[in-house]
Amino acid sequence: MHFGAKRLTLLDHMEVEPFMSLLNAATEVRLRAYAPYSRFKVGAAIMSVEGRVHVGCNVENVAYPEGTCAEAGAIAAMIAAGDARIAEIAVIADSPEPVPCCGGCRQKIAEFADQGVRVTLYTTDGKSKVLTVAELLPGVFTAAHMDKT
Ligand code: THU
Repeated sequence: MHFGAKRLTLLDHMEVEPFMSLLNAATEVRLRAYAPYSRFKVGAAIMSVEGRVHVGCNVENVAYPEGTCAEAGAIAAMIAAGDARIAEIAVIADSPEPVPCCGGCRQKIAEFADQGVRVTLYTTDGKSKVLTVAELLPGVFTAAHMDKT
């Protein structure tokens, strides 16, 4: 991660990271989205409970259902990096109103986040909407629903 022309050292990261907003990380990764079919670029950034930022963007495919959402990419990056839980997540898109996560991503987020975790949805022109994971996916399917004992 770097700000403008200045590339940060690890020490800079340790000092800056708590103040660096997830919005900045999501905004930056959104620009790298691969969205030639929808032309709708989305960026997502997760702060893990372990304290690191993980980012993802949507990656489309000519076989349309094979495309993946930004949120799914950020979750995959978090797990691949060895972190386990979401402390906070931000999503940004160039939409007229803060873009709601798709149904599949709501379930994916719920897998790795407590019900009270904050989800902030942004537009590229400054609108935002804050929800909890519980608000994002009421009636979430959990492992408890498979346990009759
Ligand atoms: N998309 C996301 O990446 N996240 C969302 O929350 C909504 C939709 C992507 C999927 C697809 O590449 C494009 O936006 C249009 O649906």
